[in-house]
This record gives sequence, C-alpha cells and structure tokens, in this order.
Amino acid sequence: MRHALAGLALIATAFSGVLAVERQDQGRWNWGVGTDSGMDSGTAAPPVPADNPMSADKVALGRRLFYDADLSINGTMSCATCHEQRHAFADGNRTHPGALDDPGRRNVPALQNLAWLSPLTWADPRQTTLEKQASVPILGDHPVEMAMQGHEAEIGHRLGRDPCYRTMFRKAFPGDGGRIDYAHAVKALAAFERTLISRGSDWDRFTDGQADALSAEAGQGLAVFRRECASCHSGRDLTDMQFHRVGPVGSDHGLAEISAVPGDVGKFRTPSLRNIAVTAPYLHDGSAPTLADAIAAHEGLAVGDDMPALLAFLNSLTDRAFLADPRLSLPMEACGRRL
Ligand code: HEC
Ligand code: HEC
Repeated sequence: MRHALAGLALIATAFSGVLAVERQDQGRWNWGVGTDSGMDSGTAAPPVPADNPMSADKVALGRRLFYDADLSINGTMSCATCHEQRHAFADGNRTHPGALDDPGRRNVPALQNLAWLSPLTWADPRQTTLEKQASVPILGDHPVEMAMQGHEAEIGHRLGRDPCYRTMFRKAFPGDGGRIDYAHAVKALAAFERTLISRGSDWDRFTDGQADALSAEAGQGLAVFRRECASCHSGRDLTDMQFHRVGPVGSDHGLAEISAVPGDVGKFRTPSLRNIAVTAPYLHDGSAPTLADAIAAHEGLAVGDDMPALLAFLNSLTDRAFLADPRLSLPMEACGRRL
C-alpha cells in the first residue's frame, strides 16, 4: 500500500511542479523512527507545519544559519553562542547575556527532540512551533538576545551579499524563487532544529529491549525515578509538557507572566531530562549547580539514600554520539568551499 502511494506521489510530482516536490520530500524524510503520527520520539514521526516541509537543502541552510553571527545586530552572537553542541545545545552558564550585554533572565535549555516538544521554552504556552519560537532570540526584548527587532530586513540584506547563501536559499525554497528574507531564514532554522535528535543513550537502548544497557545501580535508580519523578518527567523525552511549581516562588513568576492567572505563579514547563548530566547548571534560573541540588529544589520528593542510584540513572540519559554528531556541528564548508 505504501509503495502504491509513493508511486502516486511521484506521478503527481511530475504533473504539478514544485509544491508537490516539497510535499514528496516531507513524505520521504527519514526521522529514524516509526511513521505513525504522534508525540513520542521513540515511536512516531513528529508533526511538521504544512508550510515548512523538511528537505535536506533546507536543513543544510538552517544549520549554517544556526552558527551564523550575522543573525545578531553586531555580528557577535549566533544561536550556537548560547546553544553549544557539547552541552547538548545548552551552555555551562547560569544565564547568558545578549549581544548588547543585556543580562539573561533564564538558563539556556538543551535543544534536542524539539520536533516532539510543544510548547517550547520554560514558561510560554504560546511558543507552539519552532518557527514561532525563533523570533524570541532574534527579535525578543525580554531579554534582548540577538537584538534584531526592527532590523528584520537587514538579515536578508546581509545574507544576500553572499553568493553561496543565494544558492542555498534557492535550493531550500525553490517554490519562492529562493527569496532571502527573515521568514525563510526562520523556516530553515526550524527545519535544522527538527534534526537535533537524541535517542542514543543507554536508557534508550534499555527501553528498546537491551536489558543489560543499564548498570545495576542505574536500574535501581530507574525504579526510584518511576516512583518519584515520572509523574512529570514522563514519556520518551522525560517531560509531560505541562507546567508545575516544584519549589518556592522566586522573582520569576513563570507561567503567570503570560497567563496572568494567580495560581500559575512559579510554574514552569517540566524540562526534558535527556543529556541532563552535561547541561549544568540547572533550573529556570540556573540556580542549581549540580543535579543533586536541582533534585533537592523540588519540594516533597522522597529520595534520601536513593540519591546515588538516581544519579546513576540520570547519567544513563547522556547520548555521547549526539554531543559530537558531525551533522549537527559548525559546518566547515558550503557550496563546495571552505567557510
Ligand atoms: C543569548 C543566548 C541565546 C541565544 C543567542 C539563543 N538562545 Fe535559544 N534560548 C535561550 C534561553 C535563555 C532560552 C529559554 C528562554 C525562556 O524560556 O524564557 C532559550 C530557548 C530556546 C528554545 C526552546 C527550547 C525548549 O526546550 O523549549 C529553542 C528552540 C531555542 N532557544 C532556539 C534558539 C535559536 C534557533 C536561536 C538562534 C536564532 C537561539 N535559540 C539563540 C538563550 C539563547
Ligand atoms: C511535579 C512535577 C515534577 C516532579 C514530580 C519532578 N519534577 Fe523535576 N522538574 C519539574 C519542573 C517543573 C522543573 C523546572 C523547575 C524550575 O526550573 O524551576 C523540574 C526540573 C528538574 C531538573 C532540572 C532540569 C534542568 O534542565 O534544569 C532536574 C534535574 C529534575 N527536575 C529532576 C527530577 C527528578 C530526578 C525527579 C524525581 C526525584 C523530579 N525531577 C521530579 C517537575 C517535576
């Protein structure tokens, strides 16, 4: 049945041009997971906006943009300045100042399996897609990060001066004549971000049926985790994608800043715990230097003597291959030339 459909798609492509080509690419995108629709990076392909289908050319463009400081006002800051691959695309700082030195407000989160996560960010239910979220760092003013608000057109001008970018945009957006503008840059960034997929930890191997992938201690930790943590840190990405208050309310009111509901004060989205061992410091304000501190900051958990086992389990969530995957790193060349 699937073969018959693929055949039809090919015939349709032959007759209806570029739009169908883009759709066909999306149908063929290999997520390295099953093909059912759903919200679990273990078993199902993620949702992709209909107006931003995946293609290898778009991902290559998005990857170059992710590492390009021309997306910031003074050319000093790329996405990767704060989102470093070796830290699972978090960084080692409590918070990170913006391109104009405005202080950061919140800890830089890891970026992985984002295609399956919604809403995005610590506490903003409006950030339902990567396409929307990209304007927070580029244009946002709370805090100012890349400081391009009011300078969106400048992005197109800067990138358009580079002949290789002109080629890359043409290939990535053949239907729109390869227009080089902010909207297309954001779509390409989102396509690249959807390829930040981490499913190669010991815990993944265990979940996929390899019983000896976890040490005995990590296995004990998993039992503790299921008892104390999995009500919120649930599913294959270890988040229920819901907002909770786990500790005392500080100066950052979290979800209530957006919802204006008093009961939401101090609530944050449950973070994914993938690669958690390499993303210190922790919590929305980066106030917890170690994993043990982050766990202790939750009220009402009964961990006690189980802490070493629990930490062994959390360490099994690290995916070394992801942290060094050359497909996700700073690109060394584009258009057949060294960058
Ligand atoms: C100055 C540092 C900085 C820069 C530069 C930056 N980010 Fe972020 N990023 C953050 C912080 C801090 C957050 C959390 C913000 C919040 O929740 O309020 C975040 C959150 C995110 C998230 C949400 C992750 C999740 O788990 O929900 C995504 C996606 C993201 N950034 C992508 C990008 C992209 C793409 C760029 C470049 C266009 C970028 N970031 C540039 C600091 C940065
Ligand atoms: C009631 C839901 C809930 C439970 C239960 C829970 N957590 Fe959390 N966890 C959260 C939320 C929400 C945050 C973010 C809090 C913040 O930043 O202020 C968080 C943050 C964390 C962090 C920091 C993550 C980061 O990226 O900074 C770690 C580590 C963590 N939890 C581990 C655990 C462990 C281990 C357990 C069980 C012993 C547990 N949590 C139980 C909801 C929960």
